[in-house]
Amino acid sequence: MDIIDALVSHHQELRKLYQASESDASRFDEFVRHLVVHHTMEEKYFYDLLQKVADARRDSLEAVNEHHIIELIIKDAEGFPKDHGGFPIKVEGLGEYTSHHLDEEEAEIFPMARARFSPEDLMILGKLFLEAKQKMLAIELPEVPAQINQRAAGSKQVQASSQGLGIGSLK
Ligand SMILES: [Fe+2]
Ligand SMILES: [Fe+2]
Repeated sequence: MDIIDALVSHHQELRKLYQASESDASRFDEFVRHLVVHHTMEEKYFYDLLQKVADARRDSLEAVNEHHIIELIIKDAEGFPKDHGGFPIKVEGLGEYTSHHLDEEEAEIFPMARARFSPEDLMILGKLFLEAKQKMLAIELPEVPAQINQRAAGSKQVQASSQGLGIGSLK
């Protein structure tokens, strides 16, 4: 599978995960995990190269900037507990902006890239993308022990700094 087909296939997974997390907040973390892995790998195996093509540079930089905006929306959504009334609105905002980004890549950027890279290079990049995606999604991070979470929540210093971020009142 070449890199463009691999990216489009992951986009389909992202759309399904967004739909799932709209109706079930417990799927949100999986959606975000895929989204962050997608951005990291898409930048490494696709945009870092497309940026080097003079007439594709501006569109590439714009797309990578959209990744940064999506990451800010993720951080904002993560500041809400999943049972908070505002959480579904945050998921919807993230999903809508992400869908727009995916549609634009498929309609404009990917056809442009297909015309500028050789089929051989696209195949090699696709193999690397799929391998890296599989490895990154397989990483399991150990959870922070509950006692440490409780001690952190009870610390005056932590309470003061979370108020400073403007999200302390939501928790
Ligand atoms: Fe993207
Ligand atoms: Fe993408």
